[in-house]
Order: sequence, then C-alpha cells, then structure tokens
Amino acid sequence: MKDTDKVSINYTNNLNETTTMHGHGMHVQASQDGGVHQKIEPNNTWSAVYTVNQKACTNWYHPHLMGKTAQHVYKGLAGLIIIEDSSTDSLALPNTYGEDDIPLVIQDRQFLNYQLDYNPKMRDIMSGYRGDTLITNGQISPKFTAKSGLLRLRILNGSNGSMYKFHFNDNRAFHQISTDNGFLQEPVSLTSLTLSPSERAEIVVGLYNDGGKEVLLKVSETIDNTLKQSTALSISVDVQSASVLTLPSSLITHENIDISSVVRTRNFTLQGQGNRGNPSLTINNKSMDMARIDETIKVNELEIWNIKNEMGMDHNFHIHATHFIPHKRYTSSGTEYAISSNEQGYKDCIHIPPNESIDILVKMTDYTDPNGKYMYHCHFLEHEDAGMMGQFVVTT
Ligand code: C2O
Ligand code: CU
Ligand code: CU
Repeated sequence: MKDTDKVSINYTNNLNETTTMHGHGMHVQASQDGGVHQKIEPNNTWSAVYTVNQKACTNWYHPHLMGKTAQHVYKGLAGLIIIEDSSTDSLALPNTYGEDDIPLVIQDRQFLNYQLDYNPKMRDIMSGYRGDTLITNGQISPKFTAKSGLLRLRILNGSNGSMYKFHFNDNRAFHQISTDNGFLQEPVSLTSLTLSPSERAEIVVGLYNDGGKEVLLKVSETIDNTLKQSTALSISVDVQSASVLTLPSSLITHENIDISSVVRTRNFTLQGQGNRGNPSLTINNKSMDMARIDETIKVNELEIWNIKNEMGMDHNFHIHATHFIPHKRYTSSGTEYAISSNEQGYKDCIHIPPNESIDILVKMTDYTDPNGKYMYHCHFLEHEDAGMMGQFVVTT
C-alpha cells in the first residue's frame, strides 16, 4: 500500500478458535490495531480500516490473542505489509517485487512426524521457543535466481524467540537501508546483521561478479553456547541479466529531535521468575492485565523511555501506535555506549541484551482516546504470553 491510501484489510477467521490480527508497525487508531481487544471469533471477519499515515517501510501482521500469540504465530499466521511512498519510490533502489526486491520472513520450526510441534516446556518459555529447522517464507532452504547487480532483501525475524545473525557465506559486505519503520538516512555497510524477534531490516547486496555462482544468505544462532548455522536463501546469480543501479549515498532526512524538549522519563523494568514450573514474566513487577491501563501518555510530548532488562537473558521491547528512536545504551554496569549506526532510525522494537538497558525517544503524535488501549511488550512471544506486556492510552 501507499502512504495516504485508504485501506480496509479484511481478516476472516476460518479456524475453530478465536484470534486477532495485529498490524505490527502500523500507525493507526487503537480500535484498528488488532491487539488483544479486537477479537475475531470463528467464522467472523474483522476489518482494519484506516488511512495509511506513515513513511515507506516493511511491516507485518500477526495474531495477538491474550496468552495465545506465540502458538498462533507458530502455527503459521503471519505475513508482511509493505508500505511505499512517493519520495522513496524515486530513490534508485531495486523495487521490482519478486525480481530484485524480495521479502524474506525468517522463522524456525520444530517438526514431529512431519507435523508442526509446539509444546513449549518451562525452559522454552524462559529462553524462547526455538525449532531446529529454519524456514524462509514457509519453506526449508528455498532457492532464488537473481540478476547480477543489486538485490534488495526485506528481512523480518518472524520467529517466536530466536536471535538471528544474518550474513553471507563469503562474508561479503552489504548495506542496510532501513530499520523497522523507515529508511536510514544513509546506507550502512555491514558484514553481519542481528535481528531479534519482530525486527525488520531492508538490505541491499551487490551481486556483480557472481554470474553463474551461488551466494548463500546464512543465519547464525547461538543456542546453549553452541553456534548453529543455517541457510536462509540460496541465490543463484544469472549471468545474462544485470541491473545497472548504483546504491544512492543518501536516502531520507530524519526529523531533527531536540533532546532539551524531553518532558519526562518513564522507566520499564523487565523481570521474571520461574515459580514451580509456572514462569511469570513482568514489566515493573506487573503481569499483563487487559483491564488495566499502565501508562497514560500525552500526545505530542517527547519522552525518554528507559527500558532495563534485569534478567540474564535476551529480551526486546516493542511499542504499538508509534515508532521511536534509540538514544543511548547502557552496559550491565551502567556504562553508556552509542547506538550502532544501523539502529539510528525509526524503530518499533529494540533488542536489550542480558542485564543491559536502553533509552529510547518516544512521542505519540495521533489518535488520542482515553479508552484506546495500545500495548507495549517483549516480542519474544512466549515472554509476552507469560505476562511481559502492558497497556497505554494516548490522551490530549
Ligand atoms: Cu508484533 Cu504487540 O506486536
Ligand atoms: Cu505491534
Ligand atoms: Cu522477553
């Protein structure tokens, strides 16, 4: 869809259980957000109706039913929402969908007797459920034939609870051009890129002297201190055809943020305990309650949200309704360090390594409604379902 398009996305539930369908990264009214409150009963259709009100980016949709999100996503309910806008359409970037502009939804699954197996144990809930088989757009080890030249990949870590490190088999450099909710100001050169669950990145890789060769997009994960590598995509490069684009040196200009206009800091602490096989994960010592509003946020006020991961494991933090800008990171001992250049952009989810914390800049710009509940939560889906989620409203 294009920015300013009026859309009605109709989700029909043909399952025999209730679900919801959330537009992750969409800047829409709470009633159109598809969070825990917009239930879709079996044999019913729910429509998300809105005018697209944001810049070009790669978003996605997935269920958000209270306590069931992990299972519903795992069983296959997820897809991408791609937003384009006129200013970025004019950039010299590969943009022919399916040809040189390829969406990649990366997930992992566990199979038992050729069926999806989803039976998280206490330990899986705490450390994030991980399957032993990587799937890309629902397939194991897919292959793709690309022209030589520039190839754009829109990557989503669509897993329940895996940290994926992407790189190419020959460790060639590539450029990241966008974060979750928009383009970076300029392409950032990388040889590897780590995404936590729900984060997106668009990258552009040069396939110039690779005619007739196969280039592999790999995913490395560290599980129980052992490194596991899988192939997310095998790219065969065609000798015949070539795209002649050169990557632009600048993409968009981000709005200037005046830090002195920050009106307050909110603190969010991610904690957890495993109580007799029943893990409880909390934010500020509270477990998600659909009836409770945890934070009331005034529209158009710039805030710092400090998010502290008090546990010795990975978490991330996602906010509905808006994007934010990562500001500063702090090590476990509290030493400040800079946000890496490929995270200096518009994000809706951010990884927080074990025992670290981060400051992000947040401003709600629209859709005030004292009853319009939005969520923030850890996007390791088993953590979200175990309570690591809260609600906020935006008021005038
Ligand atoms: Cu991807 Cu609350 O969601
Ligand atoms: Cu979301
Ligand atoms: Cu978490």
